[in-house]
Amino acid sequence: MKLTVGGTPQEMGAQVADRVIQCLEGVKTPLVCPASGTTPAPLYHAFAGRHRRGVLDTGAWRFVGLDEWVGLNGNDEGSCRWWLDKDLFLPLGVGEDRICFFDGRAYDLVAECETTERFIEERGKMDVVILGIGTNGHIAMNEPGTDVMARSRVVTLHPTTQSVGQKYFTKQTELEKGITLGLGTIREARHIFLLATGEHKASIIRQALEGPVSADVPASLLRDHPGLEVWLDEAAAGELRLGGN
Ligand code: PGA
Repeated sequence: MKLTVGGTPQEMGAQVADRVIQCLEGVKTPLVCPASGTTPAPLYHAFAGRHRRGVLDTGAWRFVGLDEWVGLNGNDEGSCRWWLDKDLFLPLGVGEDRICFFDGRAYDLVAECETTERFIEERGKMDVVILGIGTNGHIAMNEPGTDVMARSRVVTLHPTTQSVGQKYFTKQTELEKGITLGLGTIREARHIFLLATGEHKASIIRQALEGPVSADVPASLLRDHPGLEVWLDEAAAGELRLGGN
């Protein structure tokens, strides 16, 4: 695991953007899996800025969705897809033909999972997965108690996820279940970027990086991944005993 600490969320976003671009150099059709959420937004703005300035060509990139709320899809304001359309896909001009994303409104959610797993499998491996972390330690919607081998599936969301998730919506929204890549799927990626900013993430970051490796803290199950890079601001790193670089 490589740990980097420091900077504002915007500075971190710019540094991670450079690092992701470096990881994708030489890959003909990169497959990128972006999390939605507050944390990665500055990274997506950094991609968008480079794209606007003409110094980043993402025309070959393909995208696979990480997770979605069951009952919602990109037409619903506040959904995972809606945020990614706004922050990433629209600014980069990514067409639907380059995106595979869970439709949480689909009648057959098992088929959604199969389609997503097949999309990844047909392209070999995900090159880069970009992740945040929940205050309960979740990764995507892999909640405490998750199976490290799990594939894409529908899950019942932890009460913390259900209540914290309201921040993405302008009105109270039912967030009982989610559809998510599993940790088994995520762990097959070449590079995993785990990002956290803010003091409210400090305690769970300590548990994830320095506590026992346990399904109680799903993020800890990524620790042995050879391509894991953890990027933190000072606040999120505030309770760590070890330093970064
Ligand atoms: P956040 O979400 O980036 O909005 O804090 C992280 C997560 O719940 O995975």
